[in-house]
Amino acid sequence: MIKAVTGTKDILPDEIPAWKVVEKTIERIFRNFNYKEIRTPVFEETSLFARGIGEETDIVGKEMYSFTDRSENNITLKPEMTASVVRAFIEHSLGKQQSLNKLYYVSPMFRQERPQAGRLRQFHQFGAEALGSTSVYLDVEMIQMAYEILKELGLKDLNVKINSLGTPESRNLYKEKLRKFLSDKKDKLSEDSRKRFEKNILRIFDSKDEKDKKIMKDAPLLLDNLDNESKDSFEIVKETLKLSEIPFKVDPYLVRGLDYYTKTTFEIVSGKVGSQNALCGGGRYDLLVEQLEGEPTPGVGFAAGIERILLACENEKTLNLPENKIDLFIACLNDELAGKVFEIALNLRRKNISVECDYLNRSLKAQMREANRLKAKYVLFVGGDEYKNGLANLKNMETSEQRLVSLNKIDSILLEVFNV
Ligand code: HAM
Repeated sequence: MIKAVTGTKDILPDEIPAWKVVEKTIERIFRNFNYKEIRTPVFEETSLFARGIGEETDIVGKEMYSFTDRSENNITLKPEMTASVVRAFIEHSLGKQQSLNKLYYVSPMFRQERPQAGRLRQFHQFGAEALGSTSVYLDVEMIQMAYEILKELGLKDLNVKINSLGTPESRNLYKEKLRKFLSDKKDKLSEDSRKRFEKNILRIFDSKDEKDKKIMKDAPLLLDNLDNESKDSFEIVKETLKLSEIPFKVDPYLVRGLDYYTKTTFEIVSGKVGSQNALCGGGRYDLLVEQLEGEPTPGVGFAAGIERILLACENEKTLNLPENKIDLFIACLNDELAGKVFEIALNLRRKNISVECDYLNRSLKAQMREANRLKAKYVLFVGGDEYKNGLANLKNMETSEQRLVSLNKIDSILLEVFNV
């Protein structure tokens, strides 16, 4: 039997209502903050991500779904959206049309990670990117939007963690300091961290290895070595978050897994989803646009994983899902009237009334069982003596009341009933 590929998941009809609630919430909050939706292709040229995210990151080094197509193009299924949004921003000169572009997206992403709860190989992100301003208020706006969406979805066990990665200059000076600190401890580090020492030293802070963690506890912190500009903007971020009544913790160990960040970075983690606990993450990336050969343009953004959020919602039992009811089931009492029932159904469907009828030649009893399963609000019985007089019984399934209605007027009667 052919099954879905490891790390991918079907989203079955019963799960869709929860997804819709998330999607509607996202749209509403982004609209309130004046973000416009952007959609980009599912695949891009591999070099976009290699250059955008960073050659030495786990995503580019180990996790991308990359392949050569039949025309020898190097293609990658997008592992994140920021690089794609920036590519579209440059390609369509969006910066020339307006000086600040506030964009949001919802899209599948692909990373070949080891699957586990909250970690998939095809997952879905929503997120936002603001391109064109260095205003630190946009950094805070990203955290506000993410937080509002998660709160709207009823999540309570949330921790906002913030950090600043400074400018590349201050970061480079700091990296030297860190390298000096680690130089005589290098041999005690895990193999992974020894590799990171050479290539991406900051990521040693991300190590889950207990020995590494012990060593890194005494390491100098980037946060204590920031340039004045980054320090000042970090102060404003903290002040504004306080004013927004968003509880947060400064986490000097938060380094994030993508290379493009400058200054503010953040993550929101849930206490209810196990080890893959980051519901969203983001930060400022003031150099990415020029790195991808666009006019120098500052940017800031975040992305959140929908599957992880749904897991948190399930574990905190937050979602009040609307019952999936249909308006009307038409029960057919006489096989010969199947065509007539089908015609009535079409007319009502064209009036925006949701209608189901029988396609399986079922007995009346079985049709009623189906009407109940579908939670039909009303059932219309077509057939019998009433039908000869142009009438049919209409049953309110909630009150069990029945009344005879004229089939000629059935649409206006139902339009009134359902207030369409
Ligand atoms: P990221 O931290 O790599 O950031 O991913 C953002 C979120 O996507 C994570 O917090 C997590 O919820 C979800 N996620 C990531 N990988 C998986 C996976 N394998 N399975 C399920 N969910 C996953 C970015 O992608 C940046 N582009 C965020 C950003 C936007 N920074 C600036 N702008």
